[in-house]
Amino acid sequence: MKYQGIIFDLDGVICSTDEYHYQAWKRLADNLKIPFDRTINNRLRGVSRMASLDIVLEKSENRYTESEKAVFSEMKNTYYRELLGRMSPEDLSDEVKETLVILRNAHYKLAIGSSSKNTPYILERIGLNVFFDAVSDGNQITHSKPDPEVFIKAAQMLALKPEDCLVVEDAHAGVEAGVNGGFHVAAIGDASTDSRADYSLTSFKDLLKYLET
Ligand code: BG6
Ligand code: MG
Repeated sequence: MKYQGIIFDLDGVICSTDEYHYQAWKRLADNLKIPFDRTINNRLRGVSRMASLDIVLEKSENRYTESEKAVFSEMKNTYYRELLGRMSPEDLSDEVKETLVILRNAHYKLAIGSSSKNTPYILERIGLNVFFDAVSDGNQITHSKPDPEVFIKAAQMLALKPEDCLVVEDAHAGVEAGVNGGFHVAAIGDASTDSRADYSLTSFKDLLKYLET
């Protein structure tokens, strides 16, 4: 097989929690009377919570202290977790579920590589908390994407070399992280036009076109 492991980003790849990130940031920005739209939101994909907040605050006329910023990031996370709390295994699409099972049955090692500190909670909500062979997330890293740390940790957990793994990403920062770490990359959604990726996916099950199963 060309690859032995597949490392999936979570938000916007495995589930549509990227939409909840947008709604939570929008709610915070509206409270602070800062303009915020989906174009700005796309710049937050793959980026850590605090780095995302700095991007959201670029449009503000005010300068905020670090302690004010800590309060804002906590507010956004509270809004976000309210939305996550409504999720259930029904929020995992049949397409993603069936594709993951096909890949598992074909003996690929499967991991998550996400910048999100909410990864364990989301995996629990959608019923995937014991599915993956490894979970590398925002709780274990010091550098967020486009730094490759989260993917390198995932590959180490799988005991595989980066070149033997395929990263699946919806964020330009994530594609860059994969390339920086020496991984092959399949891009989907917002990142699907990213020329740095090896494969462009129009849907999650498209992965099966490029992998032996
Ligand atoms: C990434 C998202 O997966 O996680 C980013 O694409 C988000 O938008 C980042 O900022 C951190 O998430 P969390 O859940 O730790 O705030
Ligand atoms: Mg993502």
